[in-house]
Amino acid sequence: MKSITVNLEYHKYDILIENNLVDNIGVLIKKYTNTKKCLIVTDSNVYSLYAQKLKSIIDKEDITTFICIIQAGEENKNIDNILKIYEELAKSEIGRADIIVALGGGVIGDMAGFVASTWMRGIRFVQIPTTLLSCVDSSVGGKTGINTSFGKNLVGTFYQPSLVLIDSNMLKSLNDREFFAGMSEIVKHALLFDKEMFEFIEENYTRSNIEKNIDNLLYLNCKIKASIVEIDEKEKYERMMLNFGHTIGHSIETSAGYGSYLHGEALAMGIIFAIEYGIKLGITKNISILERTKKILNNLNLTTDIPKELNLKESIKQDKKKSNKNINFIFIEDICMPKIIEVDIDNIL
Ligand code: GLY
Repeated sequence: MKSITVNLEYHKYDILIENNLVDNIGVLIKKYTNTKKCLIVTDSNVYSLYAQKLKSIIDKEDITTFICIIQAGEENKNIDNILKIYEELAKSEIGRADIIVALGGGVIGDMAGFVASTWMRGIRFVQIPTTLLSCVDSSVGGKTGINTSFGKNLVGTFYQPSLVLIDSNMLKSLNDREFFAGMSEIVKHALLFDKEMFEFIEENYTRSNIEKNIDNLLYLNCKIKASIVEIDEKEKYERMMLNFGHTIGHSIETSAGYGSYLHGEALAMGIIFAIEYGIKLGITKNISILERTKKILNNLNLTTDIPKELNLKESIKQDKKKSNKNINFIFIEDICMPKIIEVDIDNIL
């Protein structure tokens, strides 16, 4: 089993990664939380695959387990479903000593985390990510939130999980669209911090090659994420770098309508925009990374051209990373050379 400890000022937690971890999840939850009761929050897709199995594995440890099912999809990451989870918590009489288990992708992790941070002013939660994207990004670092008509993730909290359990075997049930969308965050990490990983994906972009190396890739990416979060948990500066590609990525998701594009699909377009924009402004010095990154993303079945019919103007203005009328935009000068520069929104437009 691979393990990473995320060391924060007031909190510390482990990320455990293993193929077929699922059978040990009950024992691990007991060991790490000593809870007597838990609510599994999951979505309609994951429910039929894993939720009942997980419930019986957790039940075996004398933990009374309830399940709350949310309809799958980014369009359901909203306040109505937050209320639905609160209702289930009340019905199940989940109290301060109990836990929430987020079983699903980023949508479930963000919502369950948000609820955990607010129920009884904060109860513990465990992340069990089931998509590639949530394994390498959203399950680590404590960003929680929901979408509103005002913008993506504008309502949310920083609230760290107590434990992250990653079973790489679960990723086998993802369809190709979900799987490759998750690769966008890995390409992002590679461009920002890991040249060797970038070159590895350049050569190994088929699903079977990625799967052969999955535990190592999960480990490397969680390690990158953890080390940035350790330096800057609340995104005062360094963590902003992880928003590379996200200004445009989020705008695409918002303007196309939540759920039209998977987060990773929109991010792929945002990454290419960020490199092209950097080249245009003379910030990105190594021009060859544009074609290399496009090739990688296209090889991963990801489209990199922003659909012309999308009007990104309003959604860029709503982006949460803006301060005054400027945005902290993340560029890269070269691979492993990220740069945060404040730019005028009108300039981006
Ligand atoms: N997904 C970027 C972050 O967690 O900061």
